Amino acid sequence: MSENGSTQLFQPPVDFVKQATISGMGAYEALCAEARSDYTGYWARLAREHVTWKEPFTQVLDETNAPFFKWFADGKLNASYNCLDRNIEAGLGDKVAILSETDDGALRSVTYKQLLARVCQLANGLRARGIKKGDRVIIYMAMGIEGVVAMLACARIGAIHSVVFGGFSAQSVRDRINDAGAVAVLTTDEQCRGGKKLPLKPAVDEAIALGGCETVKTIVVFKRTGGECAMVPSRDVWWDDVVAGQPEQCDPEWVEAEHPLFLLYTSGSTGKPKGVQHSTAGYLLHAIVTTKWTFDLKPHDIFWCTADIGWITGHTYVTYGPLACGATQMVFEGVPTYPDAGRFWKMIETHKVSIFYTAPTAIRSLIKAADTTPAVAPTNYDLSSLRLLGTVGEPINPAAWLWYYNNVGGGHCPIVDTFWQTETGGHMITPLPGVTPMVPGSCTLPFPGIAATIVDETGTEVPPGKGGLFVVTKPWPSMIRTIWNDPERFKRSYYPDDFQGRYYLAGDGAVRDATTGYFTITGRIDDVLNVSGHRLGTMEVESALVSHPMVAEAAVVGRPDDLTGEAICAFVVLKGARPVGEAAAKTVKELQDHVAKAIGGIAKPKDIRFGENLPKTRSGKIMRRLLRALAKGETVAQDVSTLENPAILEQLRA
Ligand code: WT7
Repeated sequence: MSENGSTQLFQPPVDFVKQATISGMGAYEALCAEARSDYTGYWARLAREHVTWKEPFTQVLDETNAPFFKWFADGKLNASYNCLDRNIEAGLGDKVAILSETDDGALRSVTYKQLLARVCQLANGLRARGIKKGDRVIIYMAMGIEGVVAMLACARIGAIHSVVFGGFSAQSVRDRINDAGAVAVLTTDEQCRGGKKLPLKPAVDEAIALGGCETVKTIVVFKRTGGECAMVPSRDVWWDDVVAGQPEQCDPEWVEAEHPLFLLYTSGSTGKPKGVQHSTAGYLLHAIVTTKWTFDLKPHDIFWCTADIGWITGHTYVTYGPLACGATQMVFEGVPTYPDAGRFWKMIETHKVSIFYTAPTAIRSLIKAADTTPAVAPTNYDLSSLRLLGTVGEPINPAAWLWYYNNVGGGHCPIVDTFWQTETGGHMITPLPGVTPMVPGSCTLPFPGIAATIVDETGTEVPPGKGGLFVVTKPWPSMIRTIWNDPERFKRSYYPDDFQGRYYLAGDGAVRDATTGYFTITGRIDDVLNVSGHRLGTMEVESALVSHPMVAEAAVVGRPDDLTGEAICAFVVLKGARPVGEAAAKTVKELQDHVAKAIGGIAKPKDIRFGENLPKTRSGKIMRRLLRALAKGETVAQDVSTLENPAILEQLRA
């Protein structure tokens, strides 16, 4: 039984199974058995079959410096070559690579040949400005063809990209530039979302003005809207001028398998966001194999992953996976609710999307919209092109799963509920659509070759039905290599001493079903929140709050929310008097805006409560378990005898 009480099994449709690349449980088990009996041989076989190498590897897994594992270390390749040139060589040059729709509905598309030409021109332009292998480049751009071009141009010349989601604030951009030591920023004048124009280049200017970004020598600006933007001569240059006159060919920089393809910053349980470092070969291999098997990708498919390239989902299942597989895919700039909440369904209908991958939070908001405005319900649209659905980012509640299955998939599309993380590079636990009977709310079984289990705090495996910590017992090719600038934090976070380096610790709780062996993820076990599928650290939000001059102390917890999965609830002690009534409302707004400025709109606390103090133990530790109960509106029946100041609970309950 899944955590949410659903036990119903949904068999993969017979017609789907017949045509699936991995077809039937026997095929899945054969792959798992191959990986079990010869783990490195299995991954080496896949790496030879699915990745195109400039120089073949002879080494597979190198564990000599564990947990800093290496895969295929003596091989050489280029990721952009794998995504572009090799498809063209295979005859796909005139196939549409990207179909793009902007916020306002404008359509554009590029073929593989055209995409290669544009990537090469930008790559040459970047090289001409001195950007070279190993340099870090920040990409802070609107979602569109150019964002993908920017990533692949970096990969072409061996530069390490670090994409920053356009919703993050100037301060966040500054921190990432600073930590990465970036030499260049690629940005857009403005991005459009939900009919609004949001300035990006001005935010980069603000980031630079904050200081600590002295490494940045070049800022390339793509003109999306023609919005006002100040250009600093010699540093700032228009994208069009960078690519003008550049040849449409560019020799790829052949890099070692372990050369970092990108850094992607994500939140941890302590302090500042960490720069997750991914390799070129291992990462690319998993991007390709999961795209082929989890999404059963076929040449005629129209693939659409709705994620922004600012997140790992956009890296693996917009840029690298689909393109390396020669797919035609949709790229969308806007939001699911503009001009109305039928936008996704309209786009699926118009572009005949066959594989659709989105987040539970989007599904829940579209369920709500369809309930209030029946005209935007998916059943009003012709969604017959769909053959497979996917979800990612947070647990999907069975009610949302069933709605998605019946109303979007028409009861005939398998749903792949894919569990993975920024750090894992690609899918870890997921159904294979032509194999796995589905249970709403369960991500089911490990991807073939992924060795996962559940242990208790001592590292002992727990019996089925008993919750514990989700761990991976063997290194896998697409795993995080290190945290940029902080290898110690890498070890501490993922290979803590408690487990003597035996397990990769994901930071999630999980439970396995006694009969099916299926995994259900029960949520984070650390101080990481998941708000609308976006990952945020409680400490990160707390430090944003205490950076406001009025705030003396703050504690942040998550509470369940029907729409966003989790909502941020902040308990704040001001330096002055505890505000009430209108003054409180005004301060709430001010603090919310302050957090948005420090991190980004996604980090705004939904609730802010004021107290003269926070509940603390006699030794001065904040009792978060009490705060979590208060945030949920539960009566705090727990033992409060260790509490230094019990009266404070009454104040914070309000
Ligand atoms: C955390 C990772 C994976 C790309 C997007 C998020 C949660 C992710 C699922 C799922 C239950 C999920 C976990 C994980 N999560 N997918 N299918 N079921 N939980 O990447 O920002 O690195 O967040 O998202 O808690 O640890 P991320």
